[in-house]
Parts: sequence; C-alpha cells; structure tokens
Amino acid sequence: MQIILVFSGRMCYNKEKTGDDATMEHKQWYKDIAVYQIWPRSFCDGNGDGIGDLTGVIEKLDYIKSLGVDAIWFSPLYPSPNADYGYDIADYRDISSDYGTLEQFKTLLDEAHKRDLKIIMDLVINHTSDQHKWFLESKNPDSPYHNYYFWRKGRKGGKKEPNNWLSTFQGKAWEFCKENGLYYLHVFAKGQPDLNMDNPQVRQEVKDIIRFWLELGVDGFREDVITFISKKEGLPNGFPLPTATGIEHYMNGPHLHEYLEEFRAVQEEYDCFTVGEAPMMTPKRALKFIGEDGHRVLDMMFHFEHMNCDNMLTNFLRTPFRPGKLKKVYNNWQTGLYGKAWNANYIENHDQPRIISRYGSEKFRVESGKMLATMYILQSGTPFIYQGQEIGMLNANIPTIDRYKDVSSINTYELMKKLHVPEKFIMWIIQYASRDNARTPMQWSAEKNAGFTTADKPWFEVNANYPEINVAAAEADPNSILHYYRKLLRFRKDNAIVRYGDFTMLKTQKEVFAYVRTYQGQQMLVVNSFSDQVQPFRAPETFAMCEEELVLGNYEQNAVVHNGCLLRPFETRVYLKKA
Ligand code: GLC
Ligand code: CA
Repeated sequence: MQIILVFSGRMCYNKEKTGDDATMEHKQWYKDIAVYQIWPRSFCDGNGDGIGDLTGVIEKLDYIKSLGVDAIWFSPLYPSPNADYGYDIADYRDISSDYGTLEQFKTLLDEAHKRDLKIIMDLVINHTSDQHKWFLESKNPDSPYHNYYFWRKGRKGGKKEPNNWLSTFQGKAWEFCKENGLYYLHVFAKGQPDLNMDNPQVRQEVKDIIRFWLELGVDGFREDVITFISKKEGLPNGFPLPTATGIEHYMNGPHLHEYLEEFRAVQEEYDCFTVGEAPMMTPKRALKFIGEDGHRVLDMMFHFEHMNCDNMLTNFLRTPFRPGKLKKVYNNWQTGLYGKAWNANYIENHDQPRIISRYGSEKFRVESGKMLATMYILQSGTPFIYQGQEIGMLNANIPTIDRYKDVSSINTYELMKKLHVPEKFIMWIIQYASRDNARTPMQWSAEKNAGFTTADKPWFEVNANYPEINVAAAEADPNSILHYYRKLLRFRKDNAIVRYGDFTMLKTQKEVFAYVRTYQGQQMLVVNSFSDQVQPFRAPETFAMCEEELVLGNYEQNAVVHNGCLLRPFETRVYLKKA
C-alpha cells in the first residue's frame, strides 16, 4: 500500500515538472491559481434568516469549483458588531453567529479541500472593533491592554483632538472617551480603533492569530490595509487634505517592512499564501515588499491605481472614465513587475462598484463584461473574481440615502450635506461610487429575492434587475458571461503563456487596449475595445492575424482585413501563435 502511495505521489510530481513551466524559476502554486472572493453576508443564505452564511457557501461549493477557480478568499467571517461589516473584528478566533460556528467552518474547510479549493482568510489587524475585549480593557490606563491602542490626551487642555488627522471614512480620526477622558485613534470608522503595532505584545497577538488559522488548515491570508500598520513616532500633524489627513505618517510607515517580516516568519512555517491590500501603491515601491529578491514579505499586493480611472484618488471624486490612464497603469505594473514580482489582478471587490457600470457599458453588458474579463485575466498575475462579477452584475443605483448600509457612503453623504452640496449631486455620486453597489445579494435565480434567501426580506435589498441577471439564466444561455469566464479560466490553466509570458503593450488609439504576451516561442495577441463605436485595429507586422488561431472572442464572425480588423463595441479578440 505504501509503495503505491509513494508511486502515485511521484507521478504527480513528474507531471508538474515536465510541462512548459519546468524552466520557470520561482514557480509557486499561488501563481497558477485563480481566486473567487466571497463577501459572506450577501453570498447565499442557508438557514433562511435573510443573511448569507457558511451553510449557504457549502451548498454552492460545486458552483464555485465549476468556474475553474482554485481558491476562495472570504471577507471577514469573525464575530463583529458590523460597524464596517466584519472589518471591525470583536474576536479573531471565532466565526460570527450570523454565519455559523467554528465547527461549521471546519466542515467548510474540509469540503473545500476535498474539491481542491484553497481557503484564504481576511486578516484585519490594523484595527479591531471597539467591542473587542482588548479595547474594552484598554480604556483603563492601568490595564496591560492600554498600550495596545493609541490613547492620547487632547490638545488645549483636552478640548481638541491630539492631532489634525482625519478618518478615511470622513470626520476626525480621533474619538473622545468619556470613561477615561482620553482620545483614541481610528483611521477608519470610530468603531475601528487602530492597534499600536509598535507594542511587541500586539505583534505577538497577531502572530498567534496567524498561527491559529494556519493550524486549523487555512491556506493563506488577504491582509487588510496592511500598509497602514506602522505609524510615525509622535503622530505628528499631517498635511491638510479634505479626507485622510495624516496618511503620509502611516502609509508605508517606518517599521512596516520589519513587522511584516516578523509575520512572514510564522507564515513560512506553513505553505501559506499572502496578498496585502496596499492603497496608493506604485510598482516601484511594491518591489520593496513583494520583490523576489530575498526581501519579500508578501507574495503579492492589491494596488488601486487601475481603480482610479473614473475618479480622483477616492471613488467619491467622480470623473469620466479615462481608458488612456487605465492602459498606462496596467503597462506600468505589468512591465514593472515582470520577472521581479507577481501581480494580483482584480477589477471588482467588496469596496468597488460593479465594473461594467464603470469601465464597460450597461447597454453592452454581455459584450463589455466579457471584454473586461479577458482584458485583465489574460495579463500576467493571479486573477481574483468577486462574487457576481462572473454573471455581469451591475450597480444597484439605490436612489435615497436611507436605503444605504455602508458607513463610508453614509458619512460621505453627511459631510457633503454639511458643505451644502445639492442633494441631487450628492446622490449622483453615491449611486455611482458607493461600495453598496457590490454588496447587494448574489443573484442566483429569478425566484423571490433572487434565490438568495427564503426569508421574506433579505438583510439588504436585491438589485431590481435580478429577473434577467442571475446564475440560473446565465447557466441556460451558452453565450452568457458566466460560460465565458469558465472558458477564460480554462484557457489560462491550459496555456502557460497566460501565466508566465512577458507583456508588451501595443501603440493604439486610447479606446483600444492591445497587448502581446510571449513565452517560449509562443505569442498571444489580446485586443480589447473600450468603445461603444467601431474602432480600427492593426496588428504589428510580426503577428499575422489571419494566419493565427482566434482562441477567444465575444462576437460571431471575426473577419481579418489587412492584418487588422474593425472592432465592434467592446469587442475582445485573442489570437494564439504557436511556437
Ligand atoms: C479595507 C477593506 C474595507 C474596509 C477597510 C477598513 O479597505 O477592504 O472594506 O472598510 O479596509 O478595514
Ligand atoms: Ca443565514
């Protein structure tokens, strides 16, 4: 028996090493996978109380597997008062009763692993909930927990906040506590006090939490605003900004690399994968943290530059979509990291409005949904897909503020009201930019509540378009975005060029984003139109379009004329030139 096991193990090993990738240095499993993100509250309600849960997720594991993904990243599942829907954690070692129990989580882990799906947890350690027992205890200046957070005396005899920092969710970054007469720092909502990472005991807690989940069998972490965890000593005043004043004193702070190195040491005892969320990151700076030169402290990073092409720095400063900027950003990251570090590619998550409503077209929903998928999944890096993205869900466009749930949208509304911005203009922004656009329940079918729950009322309203846009309808339609995602992910798996090829962007008009990937004598041409008008495209001379195979596309009949073509609205085409 033992001999057979060893033998089959070797077979697997050999299979892995004889493929195209055998020569690739730095080959790690996280480079080959695709990840599906679940925002648990809105994914699937298994017990009929109107809130998504683990039973619901277990029911849908076969569906998730059928997409061709290899891992699930869960937005926080831990107990939380939900000041920021789970990103305010009250207990790092348990599962919220809204979602189930730790036992159920273990079952989920087993069921996922049986299907070869890895599980990635959200590690939120920049802050806790204000209901976490550390924080409750820390209010007492004599408690050993006092120094777990940033408690400070106010300026001007206690009447003014300790410095001028503003929260990224609007308002001051300090909250006064009547019980002890001190202020505490919260860079996000006031229910999210920042942890003092300079305290070695806090770092020890973090390492213990990491170990707890790795011992349980999880495969990795997505690390929430991880680049904010080291604050500049003395917490000096920041450069005045309309929001997030002080950010230069905690973004990529003085001890960030050192602290991540400490955490990495624990993670490396296991086969653990990490992706860090990194606002305002640039490719050059990223190399310091993810460069494969021996100083790497994270496997990859989520940057935001490509999500700022229809706004200025924050989603609430809305501008028209600029495809030229998007191309420039992608080109910088693709060429800047190639061979040196690894990209994390995403176009949606729980903080971002739906991509078709932003960079595509609701009118050309199916065409633009497929184009956007091709455009980013065929770049170099690990693709992340957010629940509902694979069926082309759209923004919810909720018209009045009383129906919103997201703290950042509500606070932004209130701030703009105070500044006497007209209601209509405020709602024009919120409807487009709110994170709630991504948080409406997953649309499973045309049944009541989109099949998300059997309760009368789901915790949050369902997008009114669910009778047309849902998983059941997409399964039944061979031309659906859903089937296209499956094809695309299969193609990525079957072709090492998608995973390991280099990247060259072609010179074109700004509405057309075309690139060539090259790997071991093969070439792949990917052409994407961001226009609702016809756009001419001509391939480079080195690539004879008419001779090569069209492997993916979103239209019927793909004529090639003079080594080019006329791209129809939001057209995408992929040609493969074999070695
Ligand atoms: C990250 C999360 C976001 C959360 C914030 C504070 O950006 O993705 O949802 O509100 O951190 O934890
Ligand atoms: Ca439930």
